[in-house]
Amino acid sequence: MVCGIVGVTADEGFSQEPLGKLIKDALKRLEYRGYDSVGLAVITNEGLLEVRKSKGMIDYVSRKLGFDTVSGVSGVGHTRWATHGKPSDENAHPHTDCSGRIAVVHNGIIENYKKLKEFLITEGHSFTSDTDTEVIPHLVESFKKRGYDTYEAFKKTVELLEGAYALAMIDIDDPRKVFFARRMSPLIVGLGTKSNFVASDVVAFLNYTRRIIVLMDGEVGYVAPNKVVIEKALLNEGMVRWTPIDVESRVRVVEWSPEMSSKEGYDFFMLKEIHEQPYALASTLSGVVDAVSEASRVLARSGRVLLLGAGTSYHATLIAALLLRRYADLWAEAIVASESRWWLSTLSQGDIVIGVSQSGETIDTLKGIREAKERGALTIAVTNVMESTMTREADMSIYIRAGPEIGVAATKTFTSQIALLSYLAIKTGELRGVLKPSIANEVYNALRETPSIVAKILKNEEERASVLADKMRTKNNAYYLGRGLGLPIAMEGALKMKEIAYVHAEAYPAGESKHGPIALIEEGFPVIFVVLSKDEEELIKSNIEEMKARGAYAILVSPSNAEEASSLADFCFVMPVQHEVASAVSYVVPLQLLAYYTAIKKGLDPDKPRNLAKTVTVF
Ligand code: M6R
Repeated sequence: MVCGIVGVTADEGFSQEPLGKLIKDALKRLEYRGYDSVGLAVITNEGLLEVRKSKGMIDYVSRKLGFDTVSGVSGVGHTRWATHGKPSDENAHPHTDCSGRIAVVHNGIIENYKKLKEFLITEGHSFTSDTDTEVIPHLVESFKKRGYDTYEAFKKTVELLEGAYALAMIDIDDPRKVFFARRMSPLIVGLGTKSNFVASDVVAFLNYTRRIIVLMDGEVGYVAPNKVVIEKALLNEGMVRWTPIDVESRVRVVEWSPEMSSKEGYDFFMLKEIHEQPYALASTLSGVVDAVSEASRVLARSGRVLLLGAGTSYHATLIAALLLRRYADLWAEAIVASESRWWLSTLSQGDIVIGVSQSGETIDTLKGIREAKERGALTIAVTNVMESTMTREADMSIYIRAGPEIGVAATKTFTSQIALLSYLAIKTGELRGVLKPSIANEVYNALRETPSIVAKILKNEEERASVLADKMRTKNNAYYLGRGLGLPIAMEGALKMKEIAYVHAEAYPAGESKHGPIALIEEGFPVIFVVLSKDEEELIKSNIEEMKARGAYAILVSPSNAEEASSLADFCFVMPVQHEVASAVSYVVPLQLLAYYTAIKKGLDPDKPRNLAKTVTVF
């Protein structure tokens, strides 16, 4: 499952606010990871275990169950995206043991849970949920009954688990500690003053500390208010030996500030993040020369280049592959990460695999990187999250520096990914002698203009996108058509419209639309054409005419010098004329706004689209 977990332990005097409120606020910031049910467990000042959980979103559940009023010394919280067991009060985390003394939250999937459950039932344990997670508190309880203390029982339990997990656990018998373990699901320790934290993402505890330790696979430990213990399992003659880790050497300080993860007056994170694009792009571009220098050198000497990504990140890889072919004369192909195994088998030494992922945790992309490494290819991760799993596992990593993205729909990280990957492609072309430095400089200069161009597009087009959304909200279907670099932008526009506004939006190469899709066109069917440069005008004009002749409502995103094409359209987002590489960065902005306002006008919450989670860490 893709969930958000948090654990906190604090000394008296750490905060005036009850621990339940602190956990609720942390869960709010993790809500992008899942939101079909939510819960917390706190060990109260009186030494009791208080568990409150329910199906539903956090604001509703927290009001209903009074999260803000629960005081205590340590606690865990969870926001869930269901995999095992439907969303329900019973399946919501935390899960407890038979005696109600131990509470566990979990992100991941315990693959051998059925076997463990059968065994526990024979021991007399009774279960109240359909989840895989519930075996964990019962196993700890079982080991404790055999004489182990809480931490030893927790480690014994972890030794039995197969699958993926980030775990946090509290136990009345050791009330000031939060026990944790990580395998294949992200988990980070936050080092506060008179307090310590664990969470799936640093944004959960940024209000309290920026000092973190990113846990590695196979590590377990606990936090107490003034202490952190981390151990790693080593196999010795078939026996697991837990070896202590030097905690101090692992501490890092993150750049992100708490304000970066709050809405700052915007109604939704998505709108805030759309508006942050000029700053995110400026941040990406300010570090880009150093960021891509090593990667461009290895790319310049490479054989073939495969780029892997999912969703929006896949669309960014399509643009990067096109640019590497066109401007660096390299064999480069973009592959949907979940389909990459059919390509990875062809890899050999000298080939390069670039994994593009906002989170750096998407399991399909991560798996592709792992397989590529095994086959001897050099791997490069392009991510937005420092110290993410992909960043640590790839041979080389590049950080896009777009700042935290909370909205489930990727927006600012897409434009930052394209800016960075474009720079990388052009630099590679320059190093290979394919591009003259003067031509490369022209593109670099155009890219440097993108923060102000995007600011201008936001100013000019937001109101117009909102007006067009009045029409879109009445539609069930739409086509998004483009050619060349315009096609991935069309695909991204369609994905945004689908995922947050629930309009069935399909993207096609514009030239392909005659080979089938046009059969669906009827009066008022919206067709959005993405045109990045005047050169494409002639071809797209005929596509617009064909569609309009069959009743389509034609919407155009095109440069201001493509006047003939825009005069044919029913609605036109007139974009600044730029180098096509810079247009590929900025022309998606009106489509993000259109999807956002369509969702708003349909009364939908764009930050929490149904059935989706921000980070997909399961196959
Ligand atoms: O973290 P990643 O970039 O690897 O995530 C990939 C996709 O899950 C992600 O882009 C998803 O498609 C977004 N919801 C798109 O808005």
